[in-house]
Amino acid sequence: MSSGELLNFPPDFRWGAATSAYQIEGAWDEDGKGPSIWDAFCRQPGRIRDGTSGEIATDHYHRWEEDVSIMVELGLQAYRFSISWPRVMPTGKKQINAAGLDFYDRLVDRLLSQGIEPYITLYHWDLPLALQEQGGWPARDTAFYFAEYAGLVAKRLGDRVTCWITHNEPFVAAVIGYITGDHAPGIQDPVAGFQAVHHLLLAHGLAVEALRASASRPLKVGITLNLNPVHPASDSEADQRAAGRFDGMLNRMFLDPLFLARYPADIEELIGPAFPRVQQGDLEHIATPIDFMGVNYYTRSVVRYDENFPIIQATQVQPEGSEYSQMWEIYPPGLYELLVRVWNDYRPTDIFITENGVPVPDGLDADGRVRDERRIRYLHRHLVQAHRAIADGVPLRGYFVWSLLDNFEWTAGYTMRFGLVYVNYETLERTIKDSGRWYARVIQENGVPVNEEYYSG
Ligand code: GCO
Repeated sequence: MSSGELLNFPPDFRWGAATSAYQIEGAWDEDGKGPSIWDAFCRQPGRIRDGTSGEIATDHYHRWEEDVSIMVELGLQAYRFSISWPRVMPTGKKQINAAGLDFYDRLVDRLLSQGIEPYITLYHWDLPLALQEQGGWPARDTAFYFAEYAGLVAKRLGDRVTCWITHNEPFVAAVIGYITGDHAPGIQDPVAGFQAVHHLLLAHGLAVEALRASASRPLKVGITLNLNPVHPASDSEADQRAAGRFDGMLNRMFLDPLFLARYPADIEELIGPAFPRVQQGDLEHIATPIDFMGVNYYTRSVVRYDENFPIIQATQVQPEGSEYSQMWEIYPPGLYELLVRVWNDYRPTDIFITENGVPVPDGLDADGRVRDERRIRYLHRHLVQAHRAIADGVPLRGYFVWSLLDNFEWTAGYTMRFGLVYVNYETLERTIKDSGRWYARVIQENGVPVNEEYYSG
């Protein structure tokens, strides 16, 4: 055991790991599951870098018992996973697929019997395809179908599951799904995309109410946002203003309605005619008080003025001299900055880091170990920042590593590995990486070493 000095976390701090249904489950059409927009999107040529899909993914649908055993071995206290809406409601409404609900019921029971608290995400991007064919998120009805689905799941699992997350990263679902079109459903239409933003938020508010109304006891309900601190690329006024617009679109466009019951006026002006239609009473639903706020943090955004970039006239740049992962700049102090800002500006009751992790190349060494030192360093540095935020009064209650397993990384297919557990995609065999062993020790000690320390096994 470690002899070094530790930064201790509060005694009731929750340590977990996260996954999402489409990225791990596979079994895309088994036991009555309906197709989702991601099932359809992956079949379109050229959409996914390595031409793959989540049809098999990590085969968690069949290997969930082994996966729970791995969580036990890691000592996880909490597990955040998402429910596939089309697995429990194949067309997104009315008809219920009992076999789909049973799957999650068994998973929840097993987690609880092992002392692992389930955190359920209701929407991690896999909209039932049938609902997309009726308009998807730009259609207002979808928000009401989502609330029905939320109520249905809570009726079944709300007697045992306390913590619920309505949406994961509505920014990505709306903007990347309907404006840039890089994600499912692959639409490029700003009017549709901003309307999707509003309907995702409305769906959240309605679902909070449906969850609370359907469960037999009090639940803790929240939403997960992807938030980045935004820094200007230079001191020039043009870059500073660009950073303000970027921050408005990425962060305030979601935080303001959720916590202040209004959209940011500067962003409304910027979006102009494509600004979503908001009906009377919508913002009151959206701002229904929640029990916690989930923050996904990976990186910061450094931006410069760019007159050619539509609407926000701001482009992201990669600052020189920084360390990069396969996807993003590695910037640990941004986590502290972000947590303090969210706390100061919005005062959420509780905060959880619902995702934090890194894609770095790793693989099995000759002795069967995965020595992913860079992941350990990443996690260590971010946990030091989380600890700092707690010390400064931020009500941070828990932390989830993204991800438990290597998995299907959306348009990057299987080319990026985020797991604490290595997955061999031919045999589907799982191997706990050194980062997994390191994290197990952090959990056991409820703290991180003051100095970076590489320990494993
Ligand atoms: C997200 C999603 C995850 C991703 C992860 C790495 O934040 O984009 O919640 O599904 O896999 O973030 O990109």
